[in-house]
Amino acid sequence: MKILSNRSVNTKFNIIAALLLAALFLSLAYNSYRREQALILATAVDNARSIARQIIETRDYLSQSVTNEPEHNFNLVPQVAATQIAKRLTSGSRYYVRQVSLRYRNPDNRPDSFEAARLTSFRDVKAQEVWQVADYRGKKALRYLLPMKAEQSCLACHGNYDNAPRFVRERFPRGHYSYDYHVGEVIGAVSVSVPMESLYHKVGANLAYDLFYDGAVLLAFILISGWLIRRTILTPVKTVAESIADVARTGNFSERLAERGDDEIGELIGSFNELMAELDRKTLQRKESEDRYRNFIEIAQSPIVTFVGDGKIVISNQKAEKLFGLTKQELLGQRIFEFMENGDDLRVAVEAYFSSGSSDLIGATTRQKVRDVCGRLFEVDMVISVSQADQNPIFSAILRPLK
Ligand code: HEC
Repeated sequence: MKILSNRSVNTKFNIIAALLLAALFLSLAYNSYRREQALILATAVDNARSIARQIIETRDYLSQSVTNEPEHNFNLVPQVAATQIAKRLTSGSRYYVRQVSLRYRNPDNRPDSFEAARLTSFRDVKAQEVWQVADYRGKKALRYLLPMKAEQSCLACHGNYDNAPRFVRERFPRGHYSYDYHVGEVIGAVSVSVPMESLYHKVGANLAYDLFYDGAVLLAFILISGWLIRRTILTPVKTVAESIADVARTGNFSERLAERGDDEIGELIGSFNELMAELDRKTLQRKESEDRYRNFIEIAQSPIVTFVGDGKIVISNQKAEKLFGLTKQELLGQRIFEFMENGDDLRVAVEAYFSSGSSDLIGATTRQKVRDVCGRLFEVDMVISVSQADQNPIFSAILRPLK
């Protein structure tokens, strides 16, 4: 948070809004990406199932209705025909179909390790379809297997050797493991595979599009909201802050800001103007009372000097200037203690007044010796009074010379 604390409010807002929105958009995009992936996988499984079922139905039909023809036309063997049909069914798609068996006749139908493992587990009669996302030829693919069970019609060629057609017996001798199936026994499986990459390709493109589109919306939102905030909040607040700094520097309370609206910023500007008006009035009042005081001491019969806590003379009258033999310019700013024989007593008395709120020298009339610019000493009766100006006490000394 330290990095943020030195930035302007606008930058802070932009950074925080950008982070929050980016997190929101990313999580939304990620969620929809995951959902689409799950949907696509489910669709791919549906497709694989429907392909596999079509193959099985096709070969069941062939096995039942095409009985003698395979003898003369090998292409009508259910396996061979179904393989060709599967090829046509999936041409142009990334789906790849095989019909495999652990006890294969054609080495092309030998199961790979994944298929072999499933086929082994299919041996039980209630075998069901299985599917899984697995490595296939070095890539992730959806693998789907639907078991094929031997029906009565299949046993014509897969049952007893002696009952098999001649062309089968010629190709596969007695004792070949592709004979001797029973009805209901799992004889093989339709195996469908499709690379995930080709399925997910579109989701990836969707995600990229989503991110790009959301990013553009996000950027536009941040720019517009940043601009609005700067215009409606930050610039006015900055103007007020600058005006306050100006007033602090120049002490000029006549500055006023243009009124605007009834909102919080409007209130702030209103309060600023009221404060300025109040300070303006107070300064005028103080100046008037100072002027009155100056006039008053000027017409007084005795020399009078007014000094502050450190002894510096801030106001003097003509009689005092004459007493010390100095002009007003020379006298103002000097310390009163310098003009007294026992200046230190007065210094101590003023310090005592500050620490304890009272002092014997202050408020009383005492006999003192004061020194003029040439070093001559005069005896005077001195009365010191205190008044408060702007929280700080100021002291007035009336010095009545003894004739
Ligand atoms: C007319 C004889 C005949 C009938 C009926 C028959 N098959 Fe076959 N089957 C074959 C021959 C021949 C092959 C080997 C084809 C090849 O060389 O590709 C074969 C291959 C297979 C294969 C592929 C594995 C391997 O051995 O190469 C499976 C699985 C299969 N048959 C299952 C069945 C099922 C299930 C039925 C019943 C719906 C059935 N067959 C009916 C003759 C037959």
